[in-house]
Amino acid sequence: MPERRERGLNIRKLADFCSKTGIAFPTAEEYGGLSGFYDWGPRGSQLKKGVKDVWWSYFVERKEFVVGLDGSIVTHPRVWEASGHVDEFHDPVTRCSSCGRVYRADHLVEEVLGKNVEGIELEELNRVLRDVRCPACGGELEEASYFNLMFETEVGPYGGVKSYLRPETAQLIFVDFPRLYIANRKRMPFGVAQIGKAFRNEISPRNFLFRLREFEQMEIEFFFDPEDDSCPYYHEVADYEVLTLTVEDQEKGREGEVRKVSEVVADYPGREWMVYWIVESLRFFELVGVDMERIRIRQQLPEERAHYSADTWDVEFRFDDLGWKEIEGIAHRTDYDLKRHREFSGSEKYAVKREDGTPFIPWVIEPSWGVERTVLTILYSSYREDEKRTYLALKPWVAPVQVAVLPLVAKDGLPEKAREVAEVLRKHFRVEYDEKGSVGRRYRRQDEIGTPYAVTVDYQTLEDATVTVRERDTMEQVRVEIGELVSYLRERVTW
Ligand code: GAP
Repeated sequence: MPERRERGLNIRKLADFCSKTGIAFPTAEEYGGLSGFYDWGPRGSQLKKGVKDVWWSYFVERKEFVVGLDGSIVTHPRVWEASGHVDEFHDPVTRCSSCGRVYRADHLVEEVLGKNVEGIELEELNRVLRDVRCPACGGELEEASYFNLMFETEVGPYGGVKSYLRPETAQLIFVDFPRLYIANRKRMPFGVAQIGKAFRNEISPRNFLFRLREFEQMEIEFFFDPEDDSCPYYHEVADYEVLTLTVEDQEKGREGEVRKVSEVVADYPGREWMVYWIVESLRFFELVGVDMERIRIRQQLPEERAHYSADTWDVEFRFDDLGWKEIEGIAHRTDYDLKRHREFSGSEKYAVKREDGTPFIPWVIEPSWGVERTVLTILYSSYREDEKRTYLALKPWVAPVQVAVLPLVAKDGLPEKAREVAEVLRKHFRVEYDEKGSVGRRYRRQDEIGTPYAVTVDYQTLEDATVTVRERDTMEQVRVEIGELVSYLRERVTW
């Protein structure tokens, strides 16, 4: 298989490729776009849906202890007070006093001085910021202050109720916990999964799909009893190895090493489940085609952790140009969220009872993926170029088109036969029919969008009811009887 040229791919090039192929492009380009907002075209919307479908199937439909939720984007404003987002969901911002450019202060320090200062106190950050000048004009920077990332909105006319677009999907799961617990017939432990939009007014959205202002999350809140926290599936995950970077590694300036996940997760309630969710996350990434050679898990430093987290591991992906970047976070949220909702709502329903009648507030482990970051790493992992072609080596189950059906030439009854074949296949797979241009060019077009199989109807088809099936990566072709085609392809496009 042709090598993906190391360092040949950077985010800008991938963004251009995605615009050209109609995968994803800046919103309202004819008006100049709007920073942090992207639209997904025909290929991209299907690819994104393919990834979400595999996630839902892997984590909800195939796990008997996980159920789903589709919560609202706008909810009661007190939810965001209870969650801590009103007071604490902010990033430090600074402005150049000369040219007026605005920067996220901690990221600017990292860019200019190479120091990771994420999460440090504002006072300390301002001390460090004195050594930094505006990269654009060299002007002096104003003192950094906090900027809350939630988008505000008003519900109803005449200055109705002020609320927010949700900055994470998770909170709906917490606030709805009493109903979800009953709907799940009061079983414990259990997980609730949700896929949906989240909105953050990021100070400097950047790097194509990586930092957006509107994006989607796939989140699971897994509720358990801290006094009964053993995981029955632990033996399936205990030996799983991956590149790991612990807090200690980071403090000692070490690169990290390949270890068992079970060796690095700290010993506190829910440890076995934490290992389980980290390993299942990694298996999911592998399933959807993320290059596992570029993956590591990194334990967040205490000062980086969100206000609700007791311990967090990030799954990070190594981009050649951007370095290691977070694509998923797995946080131990303890009983923080349910306790806060009990306190702010005054409802006792956030506590549940053990079999012996003692009440407790469930603890929570939260794996949280960004859909766009997942798709971005899939695209980055599958992008290939060689002398002849550019193509995406996508896994067949996420590919926007799974089977292309092509008549060898657009005459002599071949299009009619090919359309017939396409109609049969369409009932089972995502199919595209194409008769425009030479067959070689049509193969290239399909390769470019990652179509794993191309079925070609030729003159022999009219004689013996067979077609050729071409595989994208090897470009090898085999002859298959039309009657066998569905089972031949199904075997290859199902995970
Ligand atoms: N409920 C926990 C939570 O929201 P987070 O680390 O803030 O945690 C989880 O976000 C995931 O959402 C991240 O790992 C990332 O994949 C995605 N994400 C967060 N902010 C994003 C942004 N501005 N643009 C794109 N994806 C983002």
